[in-house]
Amino acid sequence: MRIKSVEFAGAIGQAGQAGPEMVRGLPQVAFSGRSNVGKSSLINRLLGRTRTPIARVSGTPGKTQEINFFRVRSDAGEFALVDLPGYGFARAPEALREKWRKLIDGYLRETEELRGVVQLVDIRHGPTADDDRAINYLADLGLPVLFVLTKSDKLRTQKRKQAILEIGARLAVGEEQLIAFSALSGEGVEELLEAVGGLVADEAG
Ligand code: GTP
Ligand code: MG
Repeated sequence: MRIKSVEFAGAIGQAGQAGPEMVRGLPQVAFSGRSNVGKSSLINRLLGRTRTPIARVSGTPGKTQEINFFRVRSDAGEFALVDLPGYGFARAPEALREKWRKLIDGYLRETEELRGVVQLVDIRHGPTADDDRAINYLADLGLPVLFVLTKSDKLRTQKRKQAILEIGARLAVGEEQLIAFSALSGEGVEELLEAVGGLVADEAG
């Protein structure tokens, strides 16, 4: 799949708020993961927006506090990528964490256009307790899930291979459902684009 153009479509910050008009009716794929795991960086890389980022990135965890929508035109049709706020941000007050939980839960449960979720896991750490909770929750919702191991540039080749095997076994998923990715080197970009294209394919044809 080839990306032709991307636009920021809007954001929602309150549970129950409708998604932006610009993505209404378009198939959507959401990116879920711990705060700081690299969701926004991955979206920028995937969309070819490394020099002029469209999703906000920062060294400070908890940067993305709203659900951000990006409208994408590709050679396989139009769809939306959705940047979810990161969970597991320990320093966030409980009231705020509860607000995010409701926001994310509402979006995932009530968005009919949602075709699947890309769950990000740091390749160096594997799934944390928070990740396990998110993964079980997604399984309960019955949505198709792709797994991406982020920051793969942080491990040398041999360790990287080992980590992919170990995490794949722990998650009990096959190779086709697990993609090593680096926003820095670009590893995994083509593979993930194809996989996302597969999720949105039905309507985006
Ligand atoms: P929240 O918005 O807080 O949920 O975080 P996020 O998941 O969107 O993470 P973000 O993309 O903002 O990246 C967090 C930090 O990790 C930043 O300092 C990025 O530069 C760094 N980072 C992200 N992806 C990669 C990667 O592939 N390789 C390396 N080396 N660093 C990365
Ligand atoms: Mg972010």
